[in-house]
Amino acid sequence: MRIIRVKDDQEMSQKAAEMVIAKMRKNPSLTLGLATGETPIGTYRLMIEDHQRNGASYQQATTFNLDEYVGLPGENDQSYRYFMNKYLLDHIDIKKERTHIPDGNAADVQQECVTYERLIAEHGGIDLQIVGIGRNGHIGFNEPGTPFDTKTHIIELTPSTREANAKFFGRIEDVPTHAITMGIATIYASKEIIMLITGESKREALNNLIHRDINEAFPASALKRHPNFIIIADEAALGEN
Ligand code: F6R
Repeated sequence: MRIIRVKDDQEMSQKAAEMVIAKMRKNPSLTLGLATGETPIGTYRLMIEDHQRNGASYQQATTFNLDEYVGLPGENDQSYRYFMNKYLLDHIDIKKERTHIPDGNAADVQQECVTYERLIAEHGGIDLQIVGIGRNGHIGFNEPGTPFDTKTHIIELTPSTREANAKFFGRIEDVPTHAITMGIATIYASKEIIMLITGESKREALNNLIHRDINEAFPASALKRHPNFIIIADEAALGEN
């Protein structure tokens, strides 16, 4: 585990974008793992800027996202497909058929998990995975207690997660009850993992990640054993660390 200390969210985005862009230059057919959430938005913005200004091309690249809600079509503005199109994929020259997000609207979502896992394997695994972290240490939708050997699977959202997301959906009844997520083993199998962490609200999570033992009660701790796990964290999240 290597920690790169940065001043703020902007510098974190810059560092992360530089790393992704450098990898892409070296290997234009990179398989890139992507996350949704607030934290990577700045990184995606800088990737778009680089594409527009410097012509960096994603035509041969492939992407796999960490997760998606069950039951939401891609056109729903709360789906992660919608998010990814809006914040990155619609603004670079990647071929849409090479962008993968679990299909939360599949007729057989169990089968969709198996298919997703197989697709990742068929691409030779993920070269570089971007992840965020939840305040309770979750990665993807893998909440505390998720076994470290899980592959892509369906999870039931906890009442607190559904309550927290109700503001985006309008009513709690509209928040999906389930999601599809890469498992911890799926994420761990990536050749390189970059975790982005900013802000005081993530300080406790980062402190736990640095100091707590590797334990299923804190999902992100699984990554501590990974040989190429880099955390880019700002001062607000790092605190005294
Ligand atoms: C997103 C994901 C989540 C987020 C995490 C942090 O695809 O899988 O684990 O990375 O909840 O979210 P933000 O960045 O909004 O704090």
